[in-house]
Amino acid sequence: MADILLSGMQPTGETGRLHLGNYEGALKNWVKLQNGGKYDMYCCIVDWHFLTSGYNETEGLKNSVKELAIDYLSAGLDPTKSAIFVQSEVKEHAELHLLFSMITPTSWLERVPSYKEKADELGLDSYGFLGYPLLQAADILVYQANAVPVGKDQLPHIELTREVARRFNYIYGDLFPEPDGLLTPFAVVRGTDGRKMSKSYGNDIKMADSDEDTTAKLKKMFTDPEKLRKGDPGRPEICPVYSLHQIYNANHEEVIEPCKSGKLGCVDCKMNLAENLNKAMMPVRQKRVEIEKDIDKVRSMLKDGADRARAKASQTMSEVRKAMKIDW
Ligand code: TRP
Ligand code: SF4
Repeated sequence: MADILLSGMQPTGETGRLHLGNYEGALKNWVKLQNGGKYDMYCCIVDWHFLTSGYNETEGLKNSVKELAIDYLSAGLDPTKSAIFVQSEVKEHAELHLLFSMITPTSWLERVPSYKEKADELGLDSYGFLGYPLLQAADILVYQANAVPVGKDQLPHIELTREVARRFNYIYGDLFPEPDGLLTPFAVVRGTDGRKMSKSYGNDIKMADSDEDTTAKLKKMFTDPEKLRKGDPGRPEICPVYSLHQIYNANHEEVIEPCKSGKLGCVDCKMNLAENLNKAMMPVRQKRVEIEKDIDKVRSMLKDGADRARAKASQTMSEVRKAMKIDW
């Protein structure tokens, strides 16, 4: 039997659209894993997780779920291969979360790094927010997944998932695998201000941005601060524009010497990058345009994905109830 892989992303922000950091750092890898044929894949849009912090800003939620689904599809996730679905359409996640809450000491949740910090930063003290990583454990284990593709920041959540699986197995008998976090082999994508690309920094380029918008954003991008005009020598190794060249320009090494000598100006360098980046994103962006022509199809794809996910999740839950002696 193939291994099972569960991946998830939260629909956030008003548009829900993903940026190049999400694409390069996560989605592209998911597509590769999907096409590698080694896994049965479940790709979840975790709208309940959104509520743990966004409970009072749900006006844009439906739209943002839809946009996220379109980003998934335009990146190459294929509903004939992967079950793509919305978390809240598979209620089994909630049941397993509840049952896990019975066996999980609150101290396990309180000590998850980022919990205290985020709780203070966002002013959150709800029961649901504390349970965020436990809900994530339920997302993963309700499919009895063996693997979860994640960024480094998510490893503590995977560790908690393993601990919960172990504790359940210890109390009620072996039912859950201890899933591995598959770290995405990719460096940080830098945003237009040179920091890590992030929606909350407002420094991002969206997968769905038009060529024109992309070029305009790149024009404003930070460069080597000591290279003020053409003629000044630059340092590609610290320049955020160059870091994007390394991803999108197959001939990026040709930029190094002219930058260092000053022959190349930053404006030309950015235009060269824009051309390469827009070319690389063209298939993804064209696919989005196609998908947007038939939004009803996206809806029915998500329904179908939820049905397939539920088939597996409900099977797990029967076993869980039986193991816990609550199978009436
Ligand atoms: N916490 C994850 C993030 O912020 C989102 C998530 C929720 C998730 N459930 C998941 C990721 C299950 C992987 C598997 O990115
Ligand atoms: Fe950066 Fe290019 Fe300017 Fe060099 S020429 S500093 S690599 S933008």
